[in-house]
Amino acid sequence: MSFTMLGISGSLRAASTNTALLRACQGLMPEGAELVLLEYGDLPLYNGDLETEGPPPAVARVRQAIRDADALLFATPEYNHSISGVLKNLIDWASRPAFQSSLVGTPSGMLSAAPGAVGGARAQQHLKPILLSGMVPIFPGPEVVVNHVGDKLEGDVVTHEATAAFLTKYLADFAAWTKVQPTP
Ligand SMILES: Cc1cc2nc3c(=O)[nH]c(=O)nc-3n(C[C@H](O)[C@H](O)[C@H](O)COP(=O)(O)O)c2cc1C
Repeated sequence: MSFTMLGISGSLRAASTNTALLRACQGLMPEGAELVLLEYGDLPLYNGDLETEGPPPAVARVRQAIRDADALLFATPEYNHSISGVLKNLIDWASRPAFQSSLVGTPSGMLSAAPGAVGGARAQQHLKPILLSGMVPIFPGPEVVVNHVGDKLEGDVVTHEATAAFLTKYLADFAAWTKVQPTP
């Protein structure tokens, strides 16, 4: 049976290192699992009024993609010691209706990449309670923090061997963990 992880980058820019990290992960997935990347640059800013006549098409598409996924893999940049506004906006849309949203019960993992020494670790600490508020289980494995990312990624390839090995093990352990979570 195929297992689909949905990769969600918190950065929309074409040269995003977080998106590149997810693309690199596509080549490191365990057997039987695939990672597809979510496109969501067309989402409007959250406005509850837009829900009244049914969600905008981009919102409906994103919610369906999350529903169709077996697991979510976030790659978050760190913006001012937190997650990016676009990622928070996506999660806000996806989290409605509360307690019955597409997010509820969908297992998640997270990565972060940044040029600095902290590697986005502070953003991960903000992402966790946000996901928990949407009733999203979080893989309690080791944190994947790719600091000094410019030295470790070339294009969509992780050139730093220890990082590639760590990511490969993380993806395998995360995929295995999702299988013991209750079905959403
Ligand atoms: C608005 C903004 C705030 C940022 N704040 C932080 C920060 O708090 N900590 C950090 O390590 N990097 C910070 N950065 C630098 C980002 O880590 C860097 O731009 C990174 O490449 C963004 O991820 P991306 O390559 O996936 O777009 C910030 C960048 C922007 C644009």
